[in-house]
Amino acid sequence: MAANDVWILGANMTKFGKHPNSDTIDLAAEATLAALADGGVTIKDMGVLAAGCLMQASAGIGQQLQKQIGQTGIPVYNVSNACATGATALRVAIMTVKSGEADMGLAVGVEKLAGAGLLAGGSRAEDADGWTPSGRFGSVAAIDGRIGTNTMPGVFAQVGTEYGHKYGGASFELFARISEKNHAHSTLNPLAAYQKRFTVEEIMNDIMISYPNTRPMCSGNCDGAAAMVVVSDKKLKTLSKTQQKRAVKISASVLTSDPYEERCQVLPDVNTLTRQAADTAYEQAGIGPEDLDLVELHDCFATAELVHYDNLKLCKQGEAVDFFESGAPDRDGRLPVNVSGGLQSKGHPIAATGIANIYEVATHLRGEAGNRQIKGAKVGLAHVIGLGSACGVHILEKAA
Ligand SMILES: CC(C)(COP(=O)(O)OP(=O)(O)OC[C@H]1O[C@@H](n2cnc3c(N)ncnc32)[C@H](O)[C@@H]1OP(=O)(O)O)[C@@H](O)C(=O)NCCC(=O)NCCS
Repeated sequence: MAANDVWILGANMTKFGKHPNSDTIDLAAEATLAALADGGVTIKDMGVLAAGCLMQASAGIGQQLQKQIGQTGIPVYNVSNACATGATALRVAIMTVKSGEADMGLAVGVEKLAGAGLLAGGSRAEDADGWTPSGRFGSVAAIDGRIGTNTMPGVFAQVGTEYGHKYGGASFELFARISEKNHAHSTLNPLAAYQKRFTVEEIMNDIMISYPNTRPMCSGNCDGAAAMVVVSDKKLKTLSKTQQKRAVKISASVLTSDPYEERCQVLPDVNTLTRQAADTAYEQAGIGPEDLDLVELHDCFATAELVHYDNLKLCKQGEAVDFFESGAPDRDGRLPVNVSGGLQSKGHPIAATGIANIYEVATHLRGEAGNRQIKGAKVGLAHVIGLGSACGVHILEKAA
């Protein structure tokens, strides 16, 4: 243990899916109270609260949550940072603890998204007459693919097909097989929105959303919340042996945005900031991708999973197809990826996802993942990326 290490003390996520009888605060409270109980602490022990919710970014979700679970006068940060909102909220709690301002912090991410339908990337009016460049720097929309789709499935379809064009081997069927893997993994995760196993044929013949991603190859819009309690190294040493044994070390916590790039300032680029986040995280943790036992990455679409094998350096540049074909990312492979079922099966309540991915890794490192446990897992990585752009990478290590 090093003096400024920060540890996960408690963690929880609700089941993702449709929750017609719970509102945003109900879901946030459920995950938060369970995370506090999991850590053996109460809201009175918390020195900071960071609350993420993208769809209700200006609603003061953190303060509303306090009114439900306990108002103690602590600083509250309401966080909104695209699909990296949950990871950003957690980083706020981590940084507060790291700075010494608090010895325990709470982060929660929550979203009510079931039935939202296609999420657009920008502000273009749907009844606009054609694709008139009217955004900043002559763009058609605030976030848009090269082919002018203005929707997330379109942008991410482009990302995967561009990779296939560059390096070869990425067929429609290959992307469907990535989805088949994650849906197979989900059958072991009771918290996933969709736990059904699909054949490759079923996946390929389902409704086409944006080629090559059919419906089961897309992250499902759904409701859910995830919460986490973090603690300083100093404080952890004063807690019980059981709390210390179950604590999970946060060896790296990194957030990046798009760097300057010659090619364009408006088109989405999910690669560069993810590669930079991965490099920084490996350096911070003092480990390499070869040390990882499992990865939860942001497979918002099957096409995204492929490019992130490469971006997170799980394989050599250009070799993501070979990495998948080797069986490495299967749950019994060399480096299991998305054993939770990934966003394609687990669902993607946006602000909850960043914390939920970290929750999954932490649960395996604690040896508490039940029949989906990756045996002997000691080190894991969790990744999220949101267009706009924001990327969060966390590396976790099991307590010695
Ligand atoms: C794929 C998408 C278009 C489907 O939207 P929809 O047609 O409104 O679909 P619904 O959520 O109502 O689901 C209809 C049915 O399709 C099936 N289904 C939908 N998504 C599924 C998935 N990922 N896996 C398996 N089945 C799925 C289910 O049977 C579902 O019915 P049920 O929830 O009652 O069981 C939508 O979820 C979507 O846009 N996803 C991408 C979200 C996104 O862009 N997020 C940001 C990423 S960066």
